[in-house]
Amino acid sequence: MNTRKTDTVWAEPYKIKMVELLKVTTLEDRKRAIKGAGYNTFLLKSEDVYIDLLTDSGVGAMSDRQWAGMMMGDEAYAGSANFYHMEKTIQDYYSYKHIVPTHQGRGAENILSQILVKDGDYVPGNMYFTTTRLHQELAGGTFIDVIIDEAHDPASQHPFKGNIDFAKLDKLVADVGVEKIPYVCVATCVNMAGGQPISMANLKELRVWCDKHKIRIVHDMTRVAENAYFIQQREEGYSDKSIAEIVYQLCELTDAATMSSKKDAMVNTGGFLAMNDESFYEKACNLVVVYEGLHTYGGMAGRDMEALAIGITESVQDAHMHARVGQVEYLGNKLRARGVTIVEPIGGHAVFLDARAILPHIPQEQYPAQALAAALYVDAGIRVMERGVVSAGRNSETGENHMPKLELVRLTLPRRVYTQAHMDVVVESVCRVVEQAASIKGLNFTYEPEYLRFFRGRFEEV
Ligand code: F0G
Repeated sequence: MNTRKTDTVWAEPYKIKMVELLKVTTLEDRKRAIKGAGYNTFLLKSEDVYIDLLTDSGVGAMSDRQWAGMMMGDEAYAGSANFYHMEKTIQDYYSYKHIVPTHQGRGAENILSQILVKDGDYVPGNMYFTTTRLHQELAGGTFIDVIIDEAHDPASQHPFKGNIDFAKLDKLVADVGVEKIPYVCVATCVNMAGGQPISMANLKELRVWCDKHKIRIVHDMTRVAENAYFIQQREEGYSDKSIAEIVYQLCELTDAATMSSKKDAMVNTGGFLAMNDESFYEKACNLVVVYEGLHTYGGMAGRDMEALAIGITESVQDAHMHARVGQVEYLGNKLRARGVTIVEPIGGHAVFLDARAILPHIPQEQYPAQALAAALYVDAGIRVMERGVVSAGRNSETGENHMPKLELVRLTLPRRVYTQAHMDVVVESVCRVVEQAASIKGLNFTYEPEYLRFFRGRFEEV
């Protein structure tokens, strides 16, 4: 089954074979739970959550084929048959020659950064991601944002807000010199910008720019299939190309990749580092045995590698992606129609609420997006995530808070998990909370962890 630009119905290309029952909680339960969690939705117990839109990571529903693959796990320490199946699938669909499995995306980021980033280096990228930037910093590098300005404006309708601004790249070269730039980190469907795609034309231009300067392109391909869907829908010359073809082309334009398989590929855990360069592969194999496991499992069970191989093939089906992004757009369109300020255009994996616009009375120093996320949980048990100043953390040199222009709450949709009726419940709850926004109070940290503070930080009401 194929879907084209003209199809408006995004109905799921699957039916439901097994269900997981949800617990219904009372308002009193939820007030108690959020206080106990220090107003941090990461610290809630999952059993206290009704609709879980915290993340799309590791929370997708696997298909019957993936589950059947789990039964075919070859749990040999070395040379598992599932590794070779996974390796061939990655080569066939994503073009990269060498694959080093890791337990998840950040395992790949760690190995990549240790190999390529030296003390005093600069790593430009199309907006930061939390774990990616931290690994660059731990290796002695400094992240430089080179995404187009439109990406920092939630109202901009630019169709490819993930694009790179070449004037910013040129300025970095002029300021520090090419020797200090080990690679350009380019994400497809930029998470922190609101799930916004990069265009094929922009990536092609980056290829030319990087060849000229002899700088590598490393691809954060966590949501590459969602990016391919937007290219098919929006970019001239791609409407008759399949998502699988576009995904392959995107990967082919880059030299190496880090992958969190927990997103696009719909497995509960796993990731990999991939590259074309032989000597880079050799170095990665040396490090993977230190941090992850043997180079033929790297922290993954055989059954998980099998499920991943099958998940990759499912993730690039046009009908799957049409339904996937269709559901996100359904939610976003309904919220927008009800007057809720969201990041435009609607992204691939999530709808992002603009907390600055919704809570103008809370200064960014009092973490408005964190407060809005907590209020949403209290209203109807819907769990979402802060993606603003708390996630941005502190500058590793000055210790000052990063103050991102985007102060967002992310309503992230797990793949193949929730129904249209669940989306309607979410819309009602968000609208109720937005109507009562004036009563929401800002927050202060009561505990701030050193690294990735958003995961375990605790707060109290101002
Ligand atoms: N890169 C991107 C763009 C991501 O979104 C994530 C994870 C990672 C790398 C790290 O991968 O979690 O497998 O170690 N994002 C999750 C999220 C956590 O909720 O957005 P990981």
